[in-house]
Amino acid sequence: MNAGLEGVVAAKTVLSQVNGVEGRLIVRGHDIEALAGQMSFEAMAALLWRDLAPTNLTETQTATALEIARQDAFEKVPALLTAAKGLTVVEGLRTGLSLLSENEDSHVTVTAAIPVFIAALHRASQGLAPVAPSLGRAQVADFFAMLNGEPASELLVGALETYLLTVSDHGMNASTFTARVVAATRAGTVASTVAALCALSGPLHGGAPGPVLDMLDEVGDFSRVDGWIDRHLGDGERLMGFGHRVYRTRDPRADVLKGVVNRVQNTRARMALAEAVEKAAIGALAARYPDRNLETNVELFTAVLLEGIGLPRELFTPVFAMGRVLGWTAHIYEQVASSRLIRPASSYVGPLPEGAPLLAVAG
Ligand code: COA
Repeated sequence: MNAGLEGVVAAKTVLSQVNGVEGRLIVRGHDIEALAGQMSFEAMAALLWRDLAPTNLTETQTATALEIARQDAFEKVPALLTAAKGLTVVEGLRTGLSLLSENEDSHVTVTAAIPVFIAALHRASQGLAPVAPSLGRAQVADFFAMLNGEPASELLVGALETYLLTVSDHGMNASTFTARVVAATRAGTVASTVAALCALSGPLHGGAPGPVLDMLDEVGDFSRVDGWIDRHLGDGERLMGFGHRVYRTRDPRADVLKGVVNRVQNTRARMALAEAVEKAAIGALAARYPDRNLETNVELFTAVLLEGIGLPRELFTPVFAMGRVLGWTAHIYEQVASSRLIRPASSYVGPLPEGAPLLAVAG
């Protein structure tokens, strides 16, 4: 039995390779460092969807398709805000995606709807009316405008765009695997994306960056770093932003994001504390798990970056979905094309009917 399916290869993919030994991430033939910060969200979408989605679109055509789909998504906002009363933004986003119908371009529909729904849900939680998407704006710039009611600076748009590209695909992570399992049943792209979002929302996956900031808040001061870490590890707790199922060295995405954080204003104090926590945490984890190489993952600097660009922490997981949806949707098409239902086995360890012979049968 392999409860975590470590090392089990369940799909061939042209999308990304996570090299945990070298700490290298290749996405469609490019190192992540050569993509994030170097191209637009729309270009990345076109790259990930190429030869998998029903139609191949250029960057410009992708931008137009997303613009139109954001307008369509905005029409669902009144229904969403009624249905999502009292829910958190990530719960509301889950609800919003469920309101979408499957169609032949569902990958565009869900990708465009996510920023529209996040912005409307957040504004509603602040007692503010939703702001409509604008034709002629690219996806990330439009997200800021819908969220804040005014356009953001190029620096902020570029910083968020770099983040979204950095996390857009990452091998067979838990949410992508979930998307592929659901896609393999032919449930559809919208259904598979809803399932993926549910997997992403857990604190061991895309739910980690919010708790990273909680950790930095609790630590509060350099003098408290070592004591806080020892206490929490001693209580058997996990340190958010550290460790990875695949990387046995530093997560390469952490450094891409660290570079961006340093360009964003007002992050210096947070960054200094995050680096002090990083140093102490890696040391303490190495002492506790000498054979494991528990290093910094993408979430530590994600938290500092997203806070630095002015996003409240309850938006961190939904915004992660804004980027990862590109990978999910590409994997969904790839899985459907491979036409194999994913159905592993379990080993029954419960009671047997009286008189039944004890046989080891997996089923
Ligand atoms: N803090 C404390 N202990 C940790 C740890 C962390 N961040 N990451 C792993 N460990 C411990 C595990 O509890 C385990 O201990 P045990 O054998 O006593 O149970 C041991 O190290 C080995 O764990 P490992 O097999 O490396 O973890 P995993 O592959 O099952 O889990 C994560 C990977 C990412 C879920 C895990 O490292 C984690 O929970 N990290 C914190 C959450 C986080 O940052 N998530 C975002 C990931 S990008």
